[in-house]
Amino acid sequence: MGEEHLIARSRLTPVVEMRNLKKTYYLGEVPVHALRGVNLRLFSGEFVAIMGPSGSGKTTLLNLIGTFDKPTSGKIYIEGKDLTKMGEEELTALRRNKIGFIFQFYNLIPVLTAFENVELPMLIAGRPRGERVKRVRELLGLVGLSSRSDHRPDELSGGEQQRVAIARALANRPSIILADEPTGDLDTKTGAEVVRALRLAAEKENVTVVVVTHDPVVAQKADRILEIRDGKIRRERVISGKRGKVAGR
Ligand SMILES: Nc1ncnc2c1ncn2[C@@H]1O[C@H](COP(=O)(O)OP(=O)(O)OP(=O)(O)O)[C@@H](O)[C@H]1O
Ligand SMILES: [Mg+2]
Repeated sequence: MGEEHLIARSRLTPVVEMRNLKKTYYLGEVPVHALRGVNLRLFSGEFVAIMGPSGSGKTTLLNLIGTFDKPTSGKIYIEGKDLTKMGEEELTALRRNKIGFIFQFYNLIPVLTAFENVELPMLIAGRPRGERVKRVRELLGLVGLSSRSDHRPDELSGGEQQRVAIARALANRPSIILADEPTGDLDTKTGAEVVRALRLAAEKENVTVVVVTHDPVVAQKADRILEIRDGKIRRERVISGKRGKVAGR
């Protein structure tokens, strides 16, 4: 098989694919149908926003992509690999190598500087010092925080802390970044800086970025907006290239 063929195939394989994915929680005997058949394909370097009312299944969807939770039925693939056929060890390795998480409340380590927070995942992964330093500088530059390298989290603003968290999530070159309301605690201007950092991550690092947000201004910065209601994707809007194309379904 020629290299060109392999490259073409890797372009076509979605980073995330869901086929008729369902998730039902049970509260005692009572079923809660959190996802009722989701079909989805996300590609490399895409920045996708997920919107929808409270309880519509947004966090459930992220948790399934992040391998924190297992579907009740249906299929989910990461880079073509069927998660429903993986054992715990394989899932843990996949989670560690392929997926980065951004939380609403930054979760930085308070005694470490911005530099050290970003470096930590690479230290744990056993990367050599030279490589770590180069990568941390590159990532702090990407998120616009080169001048904050030596600041501890309590010496940074909320938006700056979140951008350090984005740099940290990128450190080991994941394929996917998952962010559940990353701007939920920030004002509009600060939120916009965080979104810009996520956009750059998608563009420059070729990461698939999935952001859950209630904020239409944040969502408008994505390539696509998926609207979820009652556990199903009801509508998809393509924003990319500012074409403003609307695809109803
Ligand atoms: N562990 C659980 N056990 C039982 N029911 C759950 C569990 N987690 C979520 N649910 C239910 O599943 C549905 C979807 O929840 P989910 O957290 O995905 O919603 P969401 O869209 O993220 O909402 P929000 O915007 O409020 O964060 C809700 O009805 C919720 O009550
Ligand atoms: Mg949620």
